[in-house]
Amino acid sequence: MFYIANVSPRSTGKTTNSAWMGHALHERGRRVIGYDADDSRQFSRWQAAGAYPFVVQQAATAAFHMNVPQMVPAGFEDGVGVVDVGHLEDHQAVGASVLRLADLAIVNLPPSMNDVERMEELPLREFIENVAPLRLDSKAPVTWVLLCKAPNGVSEIKQVREYLEDEGYNVFTTVIPAVVKYMRTHEGSEILAKGSVFDELVTEMEERALLP
Ligand SMILES: Nc1ncnc2c1ncn2[C@@H]1O[C@H](COP(=O)(O)OP(=O)(O)OP(=O)(O)O)[C@@H](O)[C@H]1O
Ligand SMILES: [Mg+2]
Repeated sequence: MFYIANVSPRSTGKTTNSAWMGHALHERGRRVIGYDADDSRQFSRWQAAGAYPFVVQQAATAAFHMNVPQMVPAGFEDGVGVVDVGHLEDHQAVGASVLRLADLAIVNLPPSMNDVERMEELPLREFIENVAPLRLDSKAPVTWVLLCKAPNGVSEIKQVREYLEDEGYNVFTTVIPAVVKYMRTHEGSEILAKGSVFDELVTEMEERALLP
């Protein structure tokens, strides 16, 4: 199982992005399991009643790194686990546990300096680096920033991207726009990722060899 951890310091769009990313990966033929590592349980509720073509397991536990690998169903060994992690300002124990296992950490970040400050105040970089000694390879997980909920035509996108890259962060070229289509993601809503920016995101991940 290849684990993608969607993290952020505070509420930014992680559950929305997890849902769409899960669909985009599934539509590309990958076997997907969603993991809801947030006590508020949005992700698992959204999928309730079989609205999604993949399961979402509740996994808001500080023992994520121990329990989840033992519960991977047969046939999903080469699959992708998309983990919606409760925001790190308030869910540090669960977040650290998921990051101990994550193959790819995605920082879901609106392109505003305010959100960048929240990331630095956590501080996010240290939070991710601190799990390194607890991982099999003793390295921090590969980390990429996904700019999301980006208002149209805002010059801050470029400014935030340059700032983050200067700070040494990897930043996806693909940006998730703030649009009604994504805002409307909710319990039971159907998602078709084909033709959406999340399909482009999977293409970018594949081109950058971030996925197995
Ligand atoms: N790309 C987008 N365009 C417009 N609205 C969005 C977008 N992404 C998320 N939203 C809206 O922003 C709000 C927060 O999104 P979401 O619940 O996905 O964030 P979250 O990081 O999971 O929050 P929390 O940490 O509280 O669980 C929701 O109202 C959602 O509809
Ligand atoms: Mg959420």
